[in-house]
Amino acid sequence: MRFSSEIKNPTYYVQALHGEYSQWAYAEQKAANMKGHWRESAFGDTAEIPIDLEIGTGNGFFFAHRAAQFRNRRLVGIEIKFKPLIQSIRRALANNCQNARVVRYHAARIDELFAQSEINDIFVHHPDPWEHPRKHKRRLLNHDYLNKLFNLQLTGSFLEFKTDSKDYFVWAKKEIEMTPYRLERYTEDLHGSEWASENFVTHFESIFIKKGLPIYYMRLMRP
Ligand SMILES: C[S@@+](CC[C@H](N)C(=O)[O-])C[C@H]1O[C@@H](n2cnc3c(N)ncnc32)[C@H](O)[C@@H]1O
Repeated sequence: MRFSSEIKNPTYYVQALHGEYSQWAYAEQKAANMKGHWRESAFGDTAEIPIDLEIGTGNGFFFAHRAAQFRNRRLVGIEIKFKPLIQSIRRALANNCQNARVVRYHAARIDELFAQSEINDIFVHHPDPWEHPRKHKRRLLNHDYLNKLFNLQLTGSFLEFKTDSKDYFVWAKKEIEMTPYRLERYTEDLHGSEWASENFVTHFESIFIKKGLPIYYMRLMRP
């Protein structure tokens, strides 16, 4: 991953990360310095306020919604692309949310950002599907990565996973079986399920719904 500070001819979004939005959007080094100190250094909290995480925020509709819905919790978003990164924090701030931060980081290196048990709930919505079998190893939710997330989460937290890719979903379920996570919810048709009314439709999800495609959903408990 190339550091954003090394980019020659930075776009508006790269500049915003280091300037206008730097109080809420953290470049790589600043983000890594927070490891083990998110509570006090990023949010200025002295109490044990829960810190949730969204991996791959995209343009941030869910991110901003979640931050506004739970103002008594904290929310960190990881995003590798600059434009959606800034869009996400801008949307949260437009909702008057001071409880949200985004970091520009490669999600695979999540253990460089958080210490053991530092995170509560985790959201992974429509990660890049890598459909071709030769590219499956790039998929995020492999069992090694899930074990990393497990260690970073506090007991009693959950991990929410939604995808439009049946192939990824079925593959991920097998990976999950190799981890200590407990499957709490599972449906191959989220919008026809008992959890539909509590679901927030993300930007990518709306594209698949318009095409009449089902959304696959599971929720794992970190016992
Ligand atoms: C298909 S989009 C889904 C966005 C959003 N969650 C939604 O449901 O609308 C996947 C997002 O993950 C981000 N992403 C992909 N690989 C990543 C990585 N390794 N680290 C961080 N973000 C990543 C992409 O830039 C993109 O914004």
